[in-house]
Amino acid sequence: MPSIMRRFPLAALLVAGAAALACGEAVAQAYPSRPVTMVVPAAAGGPTDTVARLIGESMSRTLGQQVLVENVGGAGGTIGVGRVAKAAGDGYTLLVWHIGQATAPALYDNLRYDVFGDFEPIGRITDVPMTIVGKKDLAAKDIGELIAWVKQKQVDVTYAHAGIGSAAHLCSLLFMNALDIKMTAVIYRGTGPAMNDLLGGQFDMMCDQTTGTANQIKQGTIKGYAATTKARIPLLAELPTLDESGVKGFEVSAWHALWAPKGLPKEALDKLVPALQDALKDAKVIERFAGLATVPVSQEQATPAALKAQLESEVAKWGAVIRAAGVKANPN
Ligand code: MLT
Repeated sequence: MPSIMRRFPLAALLVAGAAALACGEAVAQAYPSRPVTMVVPAAAGGPTDTVARLIGESMSRTLGQQVLVENVGGAGGTIGVGRVAKAAGDGYTLLVWHIGQATAPALYDNLRYDVFGDFEPIGRITDVPMTIVGKKDLAAKDIGELIAWVKQKQVDVTYAHAGIGSAAHLCSLLFMNALDIKMTAVIYRGTGPAMNDLLGGQFDMMCDQTTGTANQIKQGTIKGYAATTKARIPLLAELPTLDESGVKGFEVSAWHALWAPKGLPKEALDKLVPALQDALKDAKVIERFAGLATVPVSQEQATPAALKAQLESEVAKWGAVIRAAGVKANPN
């Protein structure tokens, strides 16, 4: 240390303090100073990818930097989530995921991350309703006939999901448990590629989010049978709910949210939360969401505290359901 500083330790302290402050301010001012990556733990073209790209495009305008979506599918989303858990908490890697963040702890014994401790909650995005759909030439005309058919055919019926812990898996698990049946699963890295195969009649049915099914149902390229929400979906009002169709109490939707790896600087959090909130007020986002039968959450829900509370209650809720169902995943 220069002798002048040894002689004037207080001056040395002040200089060091000023330097740190300048650095902190430089970081605050500078974030983001380069493109931000938004990891989607499912294949491109699917429901979560659709939500992430819409939000990302809007957030990039507020942040003044590109938001790039990176699809890392597989193992019910745990590979992509694990990638973010290990990423630097510098604000340049984000995660858009969903209810799968709440089901993974109960399903995977050797989960390589802690859904609470390894992530910084930023805010909720949207709660996407789900639908029971089937290939176009499936014989069943309505949900009543479909339920009778799957009860009769059981394992001869093929259904798709996006891996253990995915929203499609959870919904199918609840559906089979409610009907006390077993069907044969066809597993994909996301329901985007699964939808392509359903359009081609490669398997019989699946439970998927309206962000993936609404347009196909409207175009008649797949059959829509029922909604998984307690109330009918306004855009798909012709679809009865499972609850009103005799599967009493059935209710599940794919709530989506935004996280960052732990250690996110406050300066970055203070930019990301308002950027998310702005995106949820963005007329283009609202219009696109409406065309896919979903809506943004309220501004109060697009906050770290609301997401933390949501994850806590959902981990408890689905943990109990999954343990009662005795379902486990064998980690890759
Ligand atoms: C997707 O985007 O492919 C879905 O969110 C997968 C899932 O069902 O969880």
